[in-house]
Amino acid sequence: MKRTWWKEAVVYQVYWRSFFDSNGDGYGDLEGLIQKLDYIHDLGVDVIWLNPCYESPDKDNGYDISDYYRIMDKAGDMETFDRLLHEVHQRGMKLIMDLVVNHTSDQHPWFIESRSSKDNPKRDWYIWRDKPNNWRSYFTPSAWEYDEKTGQYYFHSFAVEQPDLNWENKEVREEIYKMMRFWLDKGIDGFRLDAIALLAKPDGFPDAENPYDIRYLTNNPGVHEYLQEMHDKVLKHYDIFTVGEVAFVSPEEGLKYVGEDRNELHTLFHFEVCDEMPTWDPIRFKQIQKRWYEGLWGKGWNSQFLNNHDHTRQVTRYGNDKQFRVESAKLLATLVHTLPGTPYIYQGEEIGMTGVKFDSIDDYNDIAMKNKYAEEVAKGRDPKEVLESLQLLSRDNSRTPMQWDDSEHAGFTTGTPWLKVNPNYKEINVKQALADPNSVYYYYKKLIQLRKQNPVMVYGTFCDLSENEPYIYAYTRELDGVRWLIVLNHCDSDNVYTLPEELSSASHHLLLGNYTDVKEEGTTLHMRPHEARIYALQ
Ligand code: NOJ
Repeated sequence: MKRTWWKEAVVYQVYWRSFFDSNGDGYGDLEGLIQKLDYIHDLGVDVIWLNPCYESPDKDNGYDISDYYRIMDKAGDMETFDRLLHEVHQRGMKLIMDLVVNHTSDQHPWFIESRSSKDNPKRDWYIWRDKPNNWRSYFTPSAWEYDEKTGQYYFHSFAVEQPDLNWENKEVREEIYKMMRFWLDKGIDGFRLDAIALLAKPDGFPDAENPYDIRYLTNNPGVHEYLQEMHDKVLKHYDIFTVGEVAFVSPEEGLKYVGEDRNELHTLFHFEVCDEMPTWDPIRFKQIQKRWYEGLWGKGWNSQFLNNHDHTRQVTRYGNDKQFRVESAKLLATLVHTLPGTPYIYQGEEIGMTGVKFDSIDDYNDIAMKNKYAEEVAKGRDPKEVLESLQLLSRDNSRTPMQWDDSEHAGFTTGTPWLKVNPNYKEINVKQALADPNSVYYYYKKLIQLRKQNPVMVYGTFCDLSENEPYIYAYTRELDGVRWLIVLNHCDSDNVYTLPEELSSASHHLLLGNYTDVKEEGTTLHMRPHEARIYALQ
């Protein structure tokens, strides 16, 4: 298999508005990120993924761009961005930008022109029809918005304020490629491509049988031609890393985006876990891992993540954020870093930050949640019940400010934070984590170092030894005669794992575990709640 820097990398995602506020306006910013770069670098990561910081009215927190060539005021300015890039590179790290090319803001000059009249030259840059079909968007009951001025509907896969660009229009594509080159020529190291599987729309927009199953928005014919063109005209000319957000794909479909012979993207986020597994489901999770491994291995590259700015913090959603928070956070980290694919860390995950439950919808900011809340309440449902039903998966679970210390607002800002801080910041914060040698933070550091020193963790083949086990997840990674065994007890109680026959004669040597007092055992391992171990077998 071809060895590349981005397969070996560990990526750290910075949701800058919640990371560190340098000027007291309540929003994190690029200057704040610069001030905390040493913290990120010390963890050992290689790449920073920066959420969108382009000019934007911020209806969907930067995913509604109104000027691709400017930095939004809340984040800073272009001079600060350039300094950030320089400082990242100075530390030997790389920076990838989140880029949204499926849609813009309705305040983008292109859309303002497009909606101004039916014969405006930019009319065709967006998607206009006389009649809507029955599709829903991600965030609203209809994917179409009526525009009184010209008496037509425009199409939006997300919020009303995020009209979709018309990728069939060559001028649109050329403008986008030009803009991508602008950023790459500055020296950034790649893109995380937002909603990239949505670029192509089906001919004629036929009605869906079940409008609630919004798969029709993605993976339509034509998407691969667009990506191949983007690769040919832009991506292939730079030594960069690209990761696409590709929802609703099977491994077979996924391979079309990332196949090494396809000239599209390097890797993808598929959402079979985060979108389709609301709570922990061990058998399903193992099946997903196995299928994706078999589908991609040797042909294309996968990503590993269990949370991000859209998906509730992993220790809350898939682990135990109460009695075993520290053990559980470490177990989940072990999982993400030892399964095949490039691992992602979402800011705060490395100190075991948890999700939140605010008492009032007014304390939430997430447009997806707020729209859904309004839709359900309008149907006459009890508001309290609606709120409760939306809390676990609200995107604000992951968006609360980074918890730096136990001072007011967790040391995130001297002003009023744009989103409330999680009340548990007095116990869970960076200062505490750095002072405790057994913290989640230092465990991440060790995992990352292991990856640097052991190619088996990156390039080793994968074999699941525990397919039907509900609590224990045991698998091997193997490369050039080096064999590792990973055993995880994803459970609130003790469990025993007996090594299979073929491994029982090998001696095993513990490389890393999340309990300090592991006794070397024979072929029967007594695993404590949320215990994780990585062994080298000889
Ligand atoms: C996916 C992004 O991660 C999410 O935050 C955003 O709302 C949508 N795409 C729309 O751009």
